[in-house]
Amino acid sequence: MIKSILISPIRRNLLTKKLFKVAKDMSKTKGKKLMVIGDPCGGNYFQFISSIFPNCGHGDVTVDLYGCNECKRMDINDNSAWEEFDDGEFVVIETGVLGFSKDIGEVLTQIRRVSGGDFLSAGGNKGFLWEMFLYKTYSKELIYSMDPFDSRVDEHYSGTLLGRKGSFKLKF
Ligand SMILES: C[S@@+](CC[C@H](N)C(=O)[O-])C[C@H]1O[C@@H](n2cnc3c(N)ncnc32)[C@H](O)[C@@H]1O
Repeated sequence: MIKSILISPIRRNLLTKKLFKVAKDMSKTKGKKLMVIGDPCGGNYFQFISSIFPNCGHGDVTVDLYGCNECKRMDINDNSAWEEFDDGEFVVIETGVLGFSKDIGEVLTQIRRVSGGDFLSAGGNKGFLWEMFLYKTYSKELIYSMDPFDSRVDEHYSGTLLGRKGSFKLKF
């Protein structure tokens, strides 16, 4: 219970903060734009942690279906919406949105394409209580809890199906 409500959200918050800095620096070094997937202004079940300890800012483009006015309100599952972004245009950091993927292989293909391989994520919330019950009180559309990913060191992107119904592992 402590893991679901406190340890995992705090760990995710700290890792997001670290990876956001990495992504920002990488975008400057590589001369690429920064894409943030997930509105940094809100939308988090454990929003009180992000509000007290801000961990992420907007990118040159911030994608979120229900995001703030600074966001591009786009459904990550809409393949045609991705078409406006060029190959390798961005360094991409994702914050808790890929769990809403209807076809994770398709979404990952688009991220691989627009990022040219520069992709970071702190993953989703973990813990028995979250993965079995609490996620249902957040959104009925949430399908996965993703594992953290850092394209500088990781080759596979992975996660678990909520309800502890299985897992997946895809080559990035
Ligand atoms: C857990 S929040 C992520 C942002 C939050 N600041 C964080 O770091 O946890 C999940 C976000 O996913 C967005 N979302 C849900 N379904 C989506 C979809 N199909 N496409 C794009 N964004 C979606 C929601 O609007 C929400 O802001």
